[in-house]
Amino acid sequence: RLLILDFGSQYTQLIARRIREAGVYCEIYAHDVEESRIKAFQAKGIILSGSPESVNDPKVYFRAPASIFALGIPILGICYGMHTMALQLGGQVETASLREFGYAQVRARGHSILLRNIEDQVNQDGYGLLDVWMSHGDRVCELPPGFKLIASTDNAPIAGMADEFRHFYGLQFHPEVTHTRQGARILQRFVHDICGCDALWNPTNIIKDSIDRIRDTVGSERVLLALSGGVDSAVVAALLHRAIGDQLTCVFVDNGLLRLHEAEQVMATFAQHMGIPVIKVDAQTQFLTALQGIADPEQKRKVIGNLFIQIFEEQAAQYSNSGGFLAQGTIYPDVIESAGAKTGKAHVIKSHHNVGGLPAQMQLQLIEPLRELFKDEVRKIGIELGLPHEMVYRHPFPGPGLGVRILGEVTPAYADILRQADAIFMEELHNHGWYDKVSQAFAVFLPVKSVGVMGDARHYNYVIALRAVETIDFMTAKWAPLPYELLETLSHRIINEVAGISRVVYDISGKPPATIEWE
Ligand code: XMP
Repeated sequence: RLLILDFGSQYTQLIARRIREAGVYCEIYAHDVEESRIKAFQAKGIILSGSPESVNDPKVYFRAPASIFALGIPILGICYGMHTMALQLGGQVETASLREFGYAQVRARGHSILLRNIEDQVNQDGYGLLDVWMSHGDRVCELPPGFKLIASTDNAPIAGMADEFRHFYGLQFHPEVTHTRQGARILQRFVHDICGCDALWNPTNIIKDSIDRIRDTVGSERVLLALSGGVDSAVVAALLHRAIGDQLTCVFVDNGLLRLHEAEQVMATFAQHMGIPVIKVDAQTQFLTALQGIADPEQKRKVIGNLFIQIFEEQAAQYSNSGGFLAQGTIYPDVIESAGAKTGKAHVIKSHHNVGGLPAQMQLQLIEPLRELFKDEVRKIGIELGLPHEMVYRHPFPGPGLGVRILGEVTPAYADILRQADAIFMEELHNHGWYDKVSQAFAVFLPVKSVGVMGDARHYNYVIALRAVETIDFMTAKWAPLPYELLETLSHRIINEVAGISRVVYDISGKPPATIEWE
């Protein structure tokens, strides 16, 4: 396994994903984590991440713990990681007047193990050329003792350095981003050939390992899981069922704010296809009644969240009043994104509106089998566990469901209209091959009436807004450039097939400043 020490770079998670893709387990620790934890992790190698800071800024004193250089294991410093390594080992770093950001061509010298025979092309002098992604202000201007130059660019004469005796390496460019075309190979060279890690981290082993750990943790106790129909809770259910069989109880609450036929689909997938028993609670009337007269978005979220907790607790009391565990689909990005978790001190509960606050009240212990996995790993093990492709690759759906996609007060009639429009949207996205090209797509119900002419009469009917976005992390997003032909089909079908709608609009707002959801 490998350890990544994080100095706050936006790319740190990417480094971890690339290492996992190379088949090697890794974790991210904050750079100022207690040194005993680094030792205890027993990494075969360490990667020092980049950072938005400068090593020459006296106000920000981020350094790698000195003890890592005495562990006798390979270390790779990327960008800031290289700078701090250079400084700490006796080299010099200067702050350039201009930041370099974007593509660059690196001349690599073939004599380093890290870059040997890895190149996009070779120039007439026999140097390998690499197209790389740069993003830095500082650069190393004097190598530390024991290091040799292994790569350079016009802008950064020392773009790579190596002490092959101690197995310390530094790269000015970012091998973890896909713009660096050979980046994955460089990282693979580091983890496999230099650190000696075998590629054992694959879906089969992840599942086997998780099952062993679940059995160890749970023993003969019962586990309760709230299924939402989303990927994470579905994979948790499949994994727990494989590990502990009937000790698992799944509860699925139909809150009346689900997509068309969603409740039936969830039941069919789990109960019939996977053989996992699910208790379905039909609480549609309860939710819709509780939402009557409430127009404020945050108030709606609270009402939905609290009612969910109440209903789930009632079920929990019936099915597991002997204590036991509550399972949650927390995944690794949830864990590392919270600052507390960066130092490993906090045990973070996913701030999912469905289940927030449950454990304290219910006195159940928490089990989070996906806590160490990235979304793409969760999906891969979902497929390996036999979940259907449509479920594993479906777009995210917010906990409050259609409750936040009907602007203002939620009524059963509005929910019905929205469900039909949304189903047409999804169907046509699939038909046109666009469902998997966008990260999230949905319809929104606007309770404003605009005029339309049907037959000879003027009608005042509601508006449906369509939203489709492309995003990597849901923190920023671009509206998807759906083809006009698809938009035309959508507006035609929705206006003709959904009674009560006379106008369809497409949302062309980016995030920021708009959010993905409308409420
Ligand atoms: P926003 O609207 O904040 O959405 O740009 C980012 C992502 O989060 C989802 N989302 C929610 N998920 N409960 C959830 O479980 C919520 O209240 C909620 N609000 C937004 C949204 O669908 C998008 O994927």
